[in-house]
Amino acid sequence: MGRRRGRERHDPVPARQPRRALLLGPMSVLPEQQRQGIGSALMREALSRVRDSGEAMVVLWGHPEFYPRFGFRRASDFGLLPDTPAAMVYPLQADLRAYAGLSLPH
Ligand SMILES: CC(C)(COP(=O)(O)OP(=O)(O)OC[C@H]1O[C@@H](n2cnc3c(N)ncnc32)[C@H](O)[C@@H]1OP(=O)(O)O)[C@@H](O)C(=O)NCCC(=O)NCCS
Repeated sequence: MGRRRGRERHDPVPARQPRRALLLGPMSVLPEQQRQGIGSALMREALSRVRDSGEAMVVLWGHPEFYPRFGFRRASDFGLLPDTPAAMVYPLQADLRAYAGLSLPH
């Protein structure tokens, strides 16, 4: 086995609605191996595993410059709180209006 080069985790957290939000992160790649595509591969793999989970959304706190390329959007675009660039959501269902006003877990 080679040395583990990066990691990500995602955990189910309770939401007000029957479907849940999945909290993804923290994600990190060894400094000497950053910018080689590892973080992107981890993210694509994580999203592919939860896309058909039946949950409502993936929640992530992170760099607003990095994650939109994977489909994350600012949480406030969906009416979710807090309204800050680091709070991001990847929708897993077409309509998230039922969650408007909900504060994201941290
Ligand atoms: C953020 C992180 C996970 C990305 O992993 P990575 O393997 O370096 O990323 P990739 O090689 O797949 O992607 C590189 C792209 O991400 C961008 N990127 C990397 N780190 C970035 C950052 N901190 N902010 C903005 N963009 C970043 C690069 O500019 C590059 O963009 P390009 O493809 O347009 O050139 C990694 O840099 C890291 O571990 N950073 C330190 C810990 C951290 O900040 N974790 C995130 C907490 S939200």
